[in-house]
Amino acid sequence: MLMKKFAGTKIRFALQSVLTPTAASSFRLPMSQNTPHLPRLRAFVQQFTRLIDSRPDEPRLLREGRTLLAALVAHDDWLPAELAQPHPEHYQQYLLYADAREDFSVVSFVWGPGQATPIHNHTVWGLIGMLRGQERSQPYAQDPAGRWLPSGPAHELHPGQVDAVSPRIGDVHRVSNVLADRVSISIHVYGANIGAVMRSVFLEDGTEKPFVSGYSNQALPNLWDRSAEVRAGLVR
Ligand SMILES: [Fe+2]
Repeated sequence: MLMKKFAGTKIRFALQSVLTPTAASSFRLPMSQNTPHLPRLRAFVQQFTRLIDSRPDEPRLLREGRTLLAALVAHDDWLPAELAQPHPEHYQQYLLYADAREDFSVVSFVWGPGQATPIHNHTVWGLIGMLRGQERSQPYAQDPAGRWLPSGPAHELHPGQVDAVSPRIGDVHRVSNVLADRVSISIHVYGANIGAVMRSVFLEDGTEKPFVSGYSNQALPNLWDRSAEVRAGLVR
């Protein structure tokens, strides 16, 4: 009898621990829950997934994807601070999302003041949306001798603006933070798990070196904890 009563008490205690709404608030919230507008990124990922699933050709994908990305970077209130940190010596690339088929990935690209990339390619389509600060993309092309030279005007991106790259429309460029005294951040979408793609960097004399960018983060933002909005539906 005593055993039964004790066991029942234990079960009630365990249930109360699960059901008490204040239980979760006594823990330090994980990264994504500290960012109240992270659902903007979740909505973007859901919309982009539907676009990919409609199997668009590249022109439609870049056209419609550009519109989606422009809407995401129109607001600078959703990127978790942990994924917006510069490094004093080089730019950082943080993975925000990649789908299970690795059809596309979303990254935050964080520039310290004055930082720049080498001349590089992507090998897949990419969209670049400016979130914060200002960056410059200078396209490059090879001359008949195989040297890489600037080709056409540089593209300067300001917050809210979107640029595109791909092997079809131009895939080789050099990118820099225009601002010498501030961090700049752009949000990129690529047609692959970009951190694991074999790419190339180029020296101006034509030398090509293999390049796999990787990512600067180990933990991803939790886009899928919708418990707050579900709980809000319980309040009458
Ligand atoms: Fe690039």
